[in-house]
Amino acid sequence: MKKSFSNKDKYLKKIKQIQKYNKFYFQGNSPKITDQEYDKLKKEIENLEKEFNFSHQDSPSNSVGYTPAKNFKKFPHRVKMLSLSNAFNKDDLKNFEKRVVNYLNLQKNHQFEYSVEPKIDGISASLTYKSGKFEKGLSRGNGEEGEDITENLRTIGDIPLEIKNPDFPEDIDIRGEVFIQNDDFENIKSEFANPRNAASGSLRQKDPKKTSLIPLKFIAYTFGFISKNKIKNQSEYLEKLKIWGFKTSDLNKKISKIDELIAYHSEIEKIRYQLKYDLDGIVYKINDLNLQKRLGNVANAPRWAIAHKFSASSSVSIIKDIEIQVGRTGALTPVAKIKPVNIGGVVVSNATLHNEEEIIRKDIRIGDTVKIERAGDVIPHVISVDIKKREKKSKKFIFPKKCPSCGSNTAKEFNQQTKKYDAVRRCTSEGFVCDKIAIEKLKHFVSKDALNIEGLGKKVIEQFWELKFIKYPFDVFNLDYKKISNLDGWGDLSVKNLRNSIEKAKFIKLEKFVFSLGIRHIGQENAKLIAENVKKANSFFDLKNKNLIKELISIDGIGETQINSLLNFFSNNINLMVIEKLIKVLNIQDYNRTNTKGKLNKKTFMFTGKLENISRAEAKNLVENNGGKVISSISKKLNFLIIGEKPTNRKVELAKKNNIKLIKLDDFKKMLN
Ligand code: IVH
Repeated sequence: MKKSFSNKDKYLKKIKQIQKYNKFYFQGNSPKITDQEYDKLKKEIENLEKEFNFSHQDSPSNSVGYTPAKNFKKFPHRVKMLSLSNAFNKDDLKNFEKRVVNYLNLQKNHQFEYSVEPKIDGISASLTYKSGKFEKGLSRGNGEEGEDITENLRTIGDIPLEIKNPDFPEDIDIRGEVFIQNDDFENIKSEFANPRNAASGSLRQKDPKKTSLIPLKFIAYTFGFISKNKIKNQSEYLEKLKIWGFKTSDLNKKISKIDELIAYHSEIEKIRYQLKYDLDGIVYKINDLNLQKRLGNVANAPRWAIAHKFSASSSVSIIKDIEIQVGRTGALTPVAKIKPVNIGGVVVSNATLHNEEEIIRKDIRIGDTVKIERAGDVIPHVISVDIKKREKKSKKFIFPKKCPSCGSNTAKEFNQQTKKYDAVRRCTSEGFVCDKIAIEKLKHFVSKDALNIEGLGKKVIEQFWELKFIKYPFDVFNLDYKKISNLDGWGDLSVKNLRNSIEKAKFIKLEKFVFSLGIRHIGQENAKLIAENVKKANSFFDLKNKNLIKELISIDGIGETQINSLLNFFSNNINLMVIEKLIKVLNIQDYNRTNTKGKLNKKTFMFTGKLENISRAEAKNLVENNGGKVISSISKKLNFLIIGEKPTNRKVELAKKNNIKLIKLDDFKKMLN
């Protein structure tokens, strides 16, 4: 009797263990144990089941889904896989179109044709075909490199393995979405939280045979690399995809006016739950591929497309508490801890209240009954308070005036541009002095777009911080791996993987390094501009000299806000210490212009006057994409002053004096053919 009880205990413990490893894997972390260790555990569970007739709903014997991925090999994408920026309403769409019109310098009322496509909520994949044969399939990964999931993709019926049409490009990356249909999901829903997880989990099976058991679908919608492209617009490409044997969405359309985009959006939104698969919005793409090419992209999203999200599902709940979170830049964000509710298939227990002003405006209080909204990947938020349900003794929520993490004073900044105080209250302490800010800085430092250290996710950073393994960014390179391997959930393999990714991360481009420091107002684009200007890590450190920071104002794109933020950052001794130590431990590569073979290589340009048919932003990108550089003051360093309509006389005179070549826009275009 006693024996079988302890065996059951043992069995349950093993089930718990395997669930934990499954969770690590399915939450996208690297596997914590080797495949062998996992298989051994699974076998032990199966043996106990056989011997004692035990069973458990979470046992691996009851599921096809939960088997950890082997470490898929990674490969770079030939063309980056981007994400999309979001729009929620007409204003967002108008602003999107305005930005496009400005960038292309078109008439204000210019009418674009859009390729309109449903945004399927699945997992994107990039399929490389060479000479008509499916060669390699990669997951999106971090956008720059993805996992080689070729064998699993091969099992998907919608993916043709060979294409014989004569007009199929010799070499092309076909991109689209892998997903699972809702009716198919019904049959396996005990294994996964939602269809998207099911698609992701089964795509990353170690055994392609298991992937083939789950009815995955593939819908194609774009391309990455393409050789000798003759296709003129997106809708034409979608037609071609069908001819080549790919599935495309029946809901794809061509539409021209914003009002009509919105009408189509509402039409689809009404029927979204009758569709075979989950959508989280509609994507609008400028149809003309030539315009797409001119527009290019900002950091991670194209300028030529936007995702119009569906309005959120909502539920009613009660605020149990209001917590103040402190972000990387010191922003105090109030978060409502609510009684957990299911909103559109996801259990929600936190909702953002945005900032102090929002709380005052909506008079949100602890104990209130509130309506909570959630849309796709957007953070749930409180939209309204049901005042009728409020108890008489309820009190106004008083927003703390001191930082809840470090006790420093907080303040709302005055915005010079809007001439108003910010809605956001911030901790005024200097970076690493405030624990919460320091932790957020660490998370940013290791994140995908910065050092990209796999295995050091947000939760791990918090754990290592608690254990005092890390305090400053450079501590990441001084971890005691022995101690880590003794922690619960860490096996030999995961420690080895972590060590490898940390070693790999030491080789870093200067612009990534600048970005990784998390200086306020210095995002990826600005980090690149600064790196381009200072070129070497040591010269970046020289910015501790205030005058050198002030000189950065001559960079096109850097303004007062950035200069002030840099002055603030470099006046802090801890920050200086952090940079100094990081420079020692890292191998920071000097800034290398991506295009050194371009037609304008090493040439510098400046513009004056209005340029015909082309915006300043586009002209600047044209120069840079061809290896040249745009500077914003006339000096000996300047090679060409490009003269538009009504140029500034002072600049023209100064350029002449300095023997700088003056050229017209047409001559500039000729330089580029
Ligand atoms: S275009 C170049 N078209 O949305 C911009 N993406 O947030 C990105 N998605 O990672 C690709 N349907 O997984 C594009 N018709 C569609 C899409 C679509 C779904 C997904 C895709 C991408 C994400 C971007």
